[in-house]
Amino acid sequence: MITSKNIGILLNLIKNSKKSSDLYLLVKKNSISYSSKGKSNFYIKKHSPEYKIKISKFYQSILNILVPIIKNNKRLVIAQIGQSIDGRIALRNGNSHYINNPKSIIYLHCLRSISDAIIVGSNTIKKDNPLLTTRKIKGTNPKRIIIDGSLSLNNNYKIFNDGNENIIFTKSSRKIRLNNSTIIRLNEKNFTKNLIKQLNKLKCKNILVEGGSKTISELINNQYIDILQFMIAPILIGSGINSLNLKEISNLNKAIRPKCNFNELENEIIVNLFLNS
Ligand SMILES: NC(=O)c1ccc[n+]([C@@H]2O[C@H](COP(=O)([O-])OP(=O)(O)OC[C@H]3O[C@@H](n4cnc5c(N)ncnc54)[C@H](OP(=O)(O)O)[C@@H]3O)[C@@H](O)[C@H]2O)c1
Repeated sequence: MITSKNIGILLNLIKNSKKSSDLYLLVKKNSISYSSKGKSNFYIKKHSPEYKIKISKFYQSILNILVPIIKNNKRLVIAQIGQSIDGRIALRNGNSHYINNPKSIIYLHCLRSISDAIIVGSNTIKKDNPLLTTRKIKGTNPKRIIIDGSLSLNNNYKIFNDGNENIIFTKSSRKIRLNNSTIIRLNEKNFTKNLIKQLNKLKCKNILVEGGSKTISELINNQYIDILQFMIAPILIGSGINSLNLKEISNLNKAIRPKCNFNELENEIIVNLFLNS
């Protein structure tokens, strides 16, 4: 059976397997291992998972969304937005806990665990004080990358106190020390383009951009995002922070109309927009 206790191990095995070939696994009560075709009870053929074991609809949906991303050979940058049906990611006062179904945190930790790096903006650290780990599923933690233009964060936030490393990108020349952090200063002129060049040098295969709105919007405006993923909760907030704030257009024929797919997760919908394909 696949549960929150073993999905982290499963995703890690898939991540470390050959991208191009079919994959056969044997899931037992307390372990998951690679196996031969005949002995397997969980296999992935042409990027689609198939099961001979007990698995709930929730975990099937998670694997249906994530397996094609893991098995893809190319580098993918995924921006993930948890939003209300009227397009808000937080209240005006910054509170965003919780817009989505409590179980969606398991999905988010699965998505983090298949990513090599996770990017957030400084306001998200200030408002949410997140750890950005995969603790709910005991998966692999991605590198944490924080964009802090004016270097306004301080050591009181959780990410500077759990011992894991951070990379901070800034345009400020302020001299401060942040625990467990490498601070990389970039020219203010063309900051986002310089940032993308530096991110490309990190040689990460999957990168997750978790928010907030300013960070994701700026990276979309600079064509950095491959998959824009909305996790849409059937709630109305009515006011607050918009999920995106993109360049204004004057004609609907200039709207972005990418390929997309839809997935159900509990009572929510996950929509993937494939921006760069
Ligand atoms: N529901 C969700 O999925 C979700 C996820 C994450 C966050 N949130 C919510 O989103 C809110 C925060 O979003 P936000 O849009 O206000 O802020 P944000 O994107 O978290 O952070 C924005 C700040 O990061 C820096 N930054 C990011 N990208 C930059 C770039 N390309 N160039 C220069 N600086 C850059 C800037 O810092 P400086 O101002 O110092 O220059 C900017 O002001 C919070 O309320 C949080 O709860 C929701």
